[in-house]
Amino acid sequence: MNEEEPSKKKSGSLVIRQMEIDDLADVFHLGEKLFTAREVPNLYRTWDEYEVISLFQSESEFCLVAELDGEIVGFVLGTTIEKTQSAWKYGQLVWLGTEPELQRKGIAQKLFKHFRDLMLEDGVRMLLTDTEADNLPALHFFRKLGFGHPQQHIYLTLNLSDQLKELKGKKENQRSQPRRLRSKDE
Ligand SMILES: CC(C)(COP(=O)(O)OP(=O)(O)OC[C@H]1O[C@@H](n2cnc3c(N)ncnc32)[C@H](O)[C@@H]1OP(=O)(O)O)[C@@H](O)C(=O)NCCC(=O)NCCS
Repeated sequence: MNEEEPSKKKSGSLVIRQMEIDDLADVFHLGEKLFTAREVPNLYRTWDEYEVISLFQSESEFCLVAELDGEIVGFVLGTTIEKTQSAWKYGQLVWLGTEPELQRKGIAQKLFKHFRDLMLEDGVRMLLTDTEADNLPALHFFRKLGFGHPQQHIYLTLNLSDQLKELKGKKENQRSQPRRLRSKDE
């Protein structure tokens, strides 16, 4: 396949449509290609099949895919947030991705515009999104599409491996103690 082929292929028919149950695996695998531990470690940690399924299950109307000649080449997954003390309804763009070979061809822009229109129809007054501070393609994209007022948000991690080992050790010790002794201790 020469390098021209993906863009030639793209001149086929790009359709933006609602995600369907049969798209779940394709969307998940495309996300696996995009949200890698090296490029976007926090996105990598939270991307899994349950994430896709639960967004699809809760508000499938805000889960869209871009389909090109029968293949899923992009997706946007979102949700809405309503708060009891606020008249404002928020829309959250949770995940967005375009097939690497087909980036910079306007696919995410088309997905986003459909997504935004659906949110508007649903009464959403503000869209929220977030990504890693060094995810420049996404930051450029969001800025181009009108997102502003960036605020810093720090991700922290706590590795629980040592505590996990300790806990396992305790459980093994308990199991190896004779039953009689254990019940005395308890
Ligand atoms: C961010 C992402 C979805 C953009 O998808 P895309 O289909 O390539 O975006 P588009 O072609 O619609 O780009 C629209 C505009 O966004 C900006 N943009 C997109 N990618 C850019 C990049 N790599 N560098 C600079 N600007 C970029 C440009 O202004 C572009 O318009 P232009 O091409 O006319 O200059 C894509 O890079 C991607 O899948 N990244 C990995 C997943 C990710 O980080 N998702 C976001 C967090 S969930």
